[in-house]
Amino acid sequence: MANHLVTSVLTMGLSILFILVVVALVAKHGSSDDDDTPLNSMAIHTICKPTEYTDTCHDALADVSKNSSSTRRDYIFASFRVTIDQLKAASEKATEIRKDLHGKTDDYSKYARADLKNCETLLGMAADELQHLLKVASQQKLDHLPDQVDPILVRLTAVRAYQTTCVDEIQDDKLRDDMQKTLDTANKNTYNSEKIIHYIPDILMEFGVELDLFHGAIAGHRRLLGDDEEEEEEHEHDEYEHMEQAYFKTPEPESIDDPKKVKPNVVVAQDGSGQYKTIKEALAAYPSNHKGRYIIYIKAGEYNEGQIIVEQNNVYMYGDGRDKTIITGSENYGISKCGTSQTATFVAQGERFMGRAIGFRNTIGTSGLQAVAFRSVSPHTLMVDCSFEGYQNTLHYHAHDQFYKNCSIYGTVDIIFGSGRAYIQDSEIYVRKPESDQNNTVTADGRMKSVEKGGVVLQKCKIKATKELKAVQGKVRTYLGRPYKEYSKAMVMQTEIGSMLEPEGWNKMDKPQGNKYHDTCTIREFYNKGAASSTEHRVEWKGYMEIKSKKYAKGYSSDKFIHAGSWVPHAGVDVDLKL
Ligand SMILES: *[C@@H]1O[C@H](CO)[C@@H](O)[C@H](O)[C@H]1NC(C)=O
Ligand SMILES: *[C@@H]1O[C@H](CO)[C@@H](O)[C@H](O)[C@H]1NC(C)=O
Ligand SMILES: *[C@@H]1O[C@H](CO)[C@@H](O)[C@H](O)[C@H]1NC(C)=O
Repeated sequence: MANHLVTSVLTMGLSILFILVVVALVAKHGSSDDDDTPLNSMAIHTICKPTEYTDTCHDALADVSKNSSSTRRDYIFASFRVTIDQLKAASEKATEIRKDLHGKTDDYSKYARADLKNCETLLGMAADELQHLLKVASQQKLDHLPDQVDPILVRLTAVRAYQTTCVDEIQDDKLRDDMQKTLDTANKNTYNSEKIIHYIPDILMEFGVELDLFHGAIAGHRRLLGDDEEEEEEHEHDEYEHMEQAYFKTPEPESIDDPKKVKPNVVVAQDGSGQYKTIKEALAAYPSNHKGRYIIYIKAGEYNEGQIIVEQNNVYMYGDGRDKTIITGSENYGISKCGTSQTATFVAQGERFMGRAIGFRNTIGTSGLQAVAFRSVSPHTLMVDCSFEGYQNTLHYHAHDQFYKNCSIYGTVDIIFGSGRAYIQDSEIYVRKPESDQNNTVTADGRMKSVEKGGVVLQKCKIKATKELKAVQGKVRTYLGRPYKEYSKAMVMQTEIGSMLEPEGWNKMDKPQGNKYHDTCTIREFYNKGAASSTEHRVEWKGYMEIKSKKYAKGYSSDKFIHAGSWVPHAGVDVDLKL
C-alpha cells in the first residue's frame, strides 16, 4: 500500500515534469519561430513603415489586419499575395483589349495586338515567378529570412522587370499609359514587397522574433565570427548555396569537371549526322520527366530557325566554336516594330541555362534599331567562349544572376542592357559604327529602386573599336554607358579601354524622364587601363565615382556581386572570384 502510494506519487511527479518539459519546448519553439503570438494593431504600421507607397501597403494588408488570427507570416507576405492577383487581373485586361481588336487590319490594331500579347506573356511570367517565390519564402523559418534577403530580392526584381518591360514596349502612347495605370497597384505592391524584404531584420525584431545576430544570422554580420577569412568564405558559400538553391524549381544537377568533356544527350547537325537537324527539334525532345542536365551538342552550321526559346530547365548547349556554330536571326523594332525583348534571336528562360562555344547573332544592322541577339531571364545563366553579335541592344540580361566568361560582344547603342545582375569577365567588347545620328553606349542598366538587386559589371575586359568604327573615329561618340533607369548600376573595372571613348566616359539618358538619373545612379570605375582610361575629364555626376582603393571595389568581385563561387565552379567553369 505504502509502496503503491510512493509509486503513484513518483509517476505523478514524473508526468508533471514531462508535461512541464513539453510545455517549455512548445513555448520555446513558438517564440523562436511562429506564429501564434497575437499581433496588436500596430503590426500593419510595422510592415508598412519602410514602404514607399504606404496607402497601397495599407490596402494590401486590410484583410490580414482585420483577421485577429493573422500570423506574422500573413503580415509579411500579404503584399506578395495581392500582387499575384493584381498581375493576373492586369493580364486578363490586356487579353480583353486585344480581343476587342480582333480582325482589325489597321497598323494601330496590328501593333497593339502584338504589344498586348507581349504583356500577357510577361505578366504571366511575373505572376508565376512571384507565386513560386511566395511558396518558398513563406515556408522558411522567420528567423532565417534575414539570411535570404538577397535571393528573394533578386526574384522580386525580376517580377518588377517583367512589368516594366510590358509597359515600356507598348508603342502607342495612349495604350501604354492605360496599361501603366492598369498595372499601377501591382507595381507599387511589388516595390513595397522589395522594401519589406530589404527591412525584414528590423521588422522581425519589432515583431519580437529573436535574431541570432552574433551567430551569423544576418548576412554581412558574419565577419564578427571567424579569424580565417578563406575558411569563412568557404563556409559562406555552403550556406549561401543551400539557401539560394531553395529558390530554384529543380534540384541543382551534378557538377561538371570539364564542360569540354561531357557526353551529350542529343546531337544536332544539319548534315543529318545527329539525331536532329534543328535546335528546336532537340528542345522539343526534352523528356518530360528529365532529371539533371540536358546536354545538346550543336555541330557547326548556321541555324536560322526563328526565335528559339529555351523554356526547359538545366539545358547545356555547346557548339563547335563561336565562329562555327551560329544561331542567327534578324527580328527588330526599327523595321518590323517588334517589341525589343521579342526581337531576341535566342531566349534563355529555364533555370541554369549554360552555353559554350556558340555564336548568337542578330544581323539586321543599324537600321533595325533595337534588335537583340541573346536575351536571358534564366536564373544562373552561364555563358562561356560565346559571341553575341548585333548592333543596337545586342545582349539583354533581362532578369536574374548571369555570368559571362571569355565572350565577344559586338554592338552600337546600349550593347549590354537589362534589369538582372550580369557579370562579364575576361571578354572583348567590339563597338561598331552606329547610324549617323546615334551615340554608342556599351552598357545601359535598368535598376529602378535602390533596394533592387540589379546591375552590370565588366571586369578584366577589353573594349575596342571595330575597323568600321575606327574609320569614323572623331565623328562618332562612344561611351561606357548611360543610366537607363533611376537607380542604374554599372561598374567597369580592370578593363582596357580603347581610344574611341569620349573623355567624359558616360552619357546621360536623352529622354526627358532621364534627366535626373545621373544623380541617383551608381556608376563606378576602378583601375581601368588603355588609351581612354584616364578619369581626368570624366562626368561630374552625383552618381558617378572612380573607386581608387581595392577595399571599396571588393563588393564588385564576381563572388560578392553574383555569389559566383557558389555556382560557377560547380559547372566546371573557371572564374576569378577576387579582384
Ligand atoms: C484568418 O487568419 C488565419 C491564420 O492565418 C487563417 O487560417 C484564416 O483563414 C483567416 N480567416 C479569414 C477569414 O481570412
Ligand atoms: C576563349 O575563347 C576562344 C574562342 O572560342 C578560345 O579559342 C580560347 O581558347 C578561349 N580562352 C580560354 C582561356 O579558354
Ligand atoms: C548624343 O550625345 C550628345 C552628348 O551628350 C547629346 O547631345 C545627343 O543628344 C546624343 N544623341 C542621341 C541621339 O542620343
